[in-house]
Amino acid sequence: MKIELATVALFAGLVAAPALAAGVSYTSAQVSSGQSVYQRNCASCHGGSLEGTNDAPALSGSFFVDYWTGKSVADLYNYMHDFMPPTAPSSLEEAQYAALAAYVLSENGFTGEDAALDPAGDLEAQIIGE
Ligand code: HEC
Repeated sequence: MKIELATVALFAGLVAAPALAAGVSYTSAQVSSGQSVYQRNCASCHGGSLEGTNDAPALSGSFFVDYWTGKSVADLYNYMHDFMPPTAPSSLEEAQYAALAAYVLSENGFTGEDAALDPAGDLEAQIIGE
């Protein structure tokens, strides 16, 4: 039994290694928390399903995905933190901006490691789409 578990762990480690080097990470708890923060603070402009409105661009779809692919999670996090919402930038807590980033990444199909998206962590090294 011990040996089987070790083999499974080793195999998982080998497969996951490239994703760990550059991959995005967030938890499902962050995604659901991000969804409610989004509905309260962002949906009025960006739409209830990230589809965009006349007031703000979509935060989903191929244009959004193409724009953010290859950029870092730090780029996305910092943009939201420093500029959104436009009437009160940086007004939310860091944990809320982290949850928003997790929600937007998840909704756009950017899967990641199941570990917290940590604003104090090395988000520069996490490349979206890799
Ligand atoms: C008052 C309307 C408004 C609200 C509320 C708002 N935004 Fe925005 N947002 C905008 C506008 C307008 C832009 C486009 C800015 C530009 O192009 O310079 C934008 C751009 C963005 C972008 C960049 C999109 C891209 O692909 O370039 C992100 C990400 C974003 N907003 C996230 C958020 C989040 C998260 C919230 C909630 C905390 C939020 N916004 C709340 C109006 C709003």
